[in-house]
Amino acid sequence: MATKDQLLLYLKEERENWVSGELLSNKLGVSRAAIWKHIRKLKEEDYVIDSSPKKGYLLRDVSDLLLPGEIQDGLNTGVFGKGDIVYLPETDSTNTRAKDMAARGAPEGTLIVAEKQTGGRGRRGRSWFSPPSDGIYASLILRPIMSPGEAPRITLMTSVAVAEALLSLTQLKVRIRWPNDILVNGKKIAGILTEISTEMDGVDYIVVGLGLNVNTPSESFPEEISGGATSILMETGKQFPRAPLVRAYLEWYEKYYEMFKKDGFGSIMRRWKELADIVGQQVTVSVIDKKYIGEVVDVDGDGVLILKDNNRDTHRIFSGDVTLMRS
Ligand code: BTN
Repeated sequence: MATKDQLLLYLKEERENWVSGELLSNKLGVSRAAIWKHIRKLKEEDYVIDSSPKKGYLLRDVSDLLLPGEIQDGLNTGVFGKGDIVYLPETDSTNTRAKDMAARGAPEGTLIVAEKQTGGRGRRGRSWFSPPSDGIYASLILRPIMSPGEAPRITLMTSVAVAEALLSLTQLKVRIRWPNDILVNGKKIAGILTEISTEMDGVDYIVVGLGLNVNTPSESFPEEISGGATSILMETGKQFPRAPLVRAYLEWYEKYYEMFKKDGFGSIMRRWKELADIVGQQVTVSVIDKKYIGEVVDVDGDGVLILKDNNRDTHRIFSGDVTLMRS
């Protein structure tokens, strides 16, 4: 382990206690000047460390940057996030970076996170608002052995993992809006963009991109989306640390992914239906140049929404924007 990481680990163990420079230099086998250099580096990474010539150093708060070490600290997974986590202070789109890496052979479970995206992409050609250090912009590389036709299930499964992560760490009333938006109080808090590369008759890789609004204040959302968007900060009035959210997401993700590979999609779909609560609802679904109005009869195992309109005609809808008719 690098000296800076060892130093951080030690300061974390002694959290809220002063540790003398002398003790640290003895423990880590480097000079006190070297300790000071690493402390400066940690401060540059937004760790809050007090220093006193007499008492030494005291870690007041960990960094809220999505540094790999913070995400991996206590991460309880076998594969996801255990290998490479690529941390980018700024990028165009983590999905684009992940696709490049996957095409060059990056293994399953590789995670790309960014503090800021300059070209964050959403579903249906939209953009994703990605202000610096307020949200989570993360893309995960998967290499499932499946036919391309099964891939929509991965998207549904992702929305369940995101919802579970939020439910397990917050008191928020989280819902899924078909196919894979995550809502709180009717407003979108997270979105998922799945991109697939196929070869012959199978999937080569899938990149699953998650955008989650964590500490975004309401006034910073652009006007066009502000009415329909929310964040954890807006819902709770409190800043929320981001690394534990990424960690919970990876843990839930791996749990559901393993379940999917072992037992198929049945129980995941049941959980999706519970969290979406859409079957039996009156809805409007806007699809590029059409609008369907009617009752949702079912969402099938491929995520296709089955709607009976007011003329009792049945439609199978693969993608679109849903509005519930109830409040
Ligand atoms: C949606 O339209 O709801 C999907 C939004 C997905 C946004 C995320 S942010 C991380 C990843 N990189 C991107 O460019 N998009 C996804």
